[in-house]
Amino acid sequence: MTAQASGIDTRLLRAQAVLYEAGKLALSHFGALASLPVEIKQNGQDIVSAADREVEMLVRDRIAETFPDDGFLGEEYGLSARSSGYTWVLDPIDGTSCFVHGSRSWCISIALLKGGETVAGLILDPSADELFTAVSGGGAFLNGRPIAVDSRTDMQHGLIGVGASFRVPPRAVSGFIERLLDRGGMFVRSGSGALSLAHVACGRLAGYYEPHIHAWDCLAGLCLIREAGGWTADFAADGDLMRGGPVLGCPPQLSEDLLDLIAATSAERAA
Ligand code: IPD
Ligand code: CA
Ligand code: CA
Repeated sequence: MTAQASGIDTRLLRAQAVLYEAGKLALSHFGALASLPVEIKQNGQDIVSAADREVEMLVRDRIAETFPDDGFLGEEYGLSARSSGYTWVLDPIDGTSCFVHGSRSWCISIALLKGGETVAGLILDPSADELFTAVSGGGAFLNGRPIAVDSRTDMQHGLIGVGASFRVPPRAVSGFIERLLDRGGMFVRSGSGALSLAHVACGRLAGYYEPHIHAWDCLAGLCLIREAGGWTADFAADGDLMRGGPVLGCPPQLSEDLLDLIAATSAERAA
């Protein structure tokens, strides 16, 4: 085992334990939603709760205790740069709107970057007791069992996850959905981009597309998809972790079809 591999493996083990602890904390709030403080960030669909903040602080503290020189980027408290070359990227609760409304479509997502490359991804769905893990070059797993994207599905049979936010014009989403339906495909929007990507990795969804998403929403899920044999479009290819961009991941046989739909949607918007 190389020094780098062992550094990643040690971090993966620690991250799993921290995620389970964070999952218990999140579930304790999920069981007492009537008393959960919630604030609006940009609009009524973009919110933050005390659960998001507490989960992020817990994960930050635990990672800093064990790996004080690792950088950390979390959705709620931003970037703390450090010197080890490793950076953790956390969404403490992805699917906050679902969470505060009592819907179980939420998760905790954490990616590990080494020199800017994603080398591991972990997504915990506490409600389903499902932990998705992947290390670059080591495969993808659900609760320790290997998973794979659906290598036989096609546009007319599979379900495509589609994400939406007010960071892009509504037509960027509805134009894609219209074209997908025109081709005999079908969409679902779960409310958690990260969990949707994990579901692509294990074959429940045939792909996930969202015109704009952030690094904390998707880096772990994209790593899972690649390690499960899937294809992912480059995300934030310029290494800008803060700006975000479009996200697309699917089994390899669907990439061309989905890219066509996205290109046609973009062309319509540019015209
Ligand atoms: C959001 C969810 C949603 C996606 C949005 C994200 P949040 O994250 O992943 O599914 O469509 O783009 O912002 O706010 O629940 O952490
Ligand atoms: Ca998110
Ligand atoms: Ca979040």
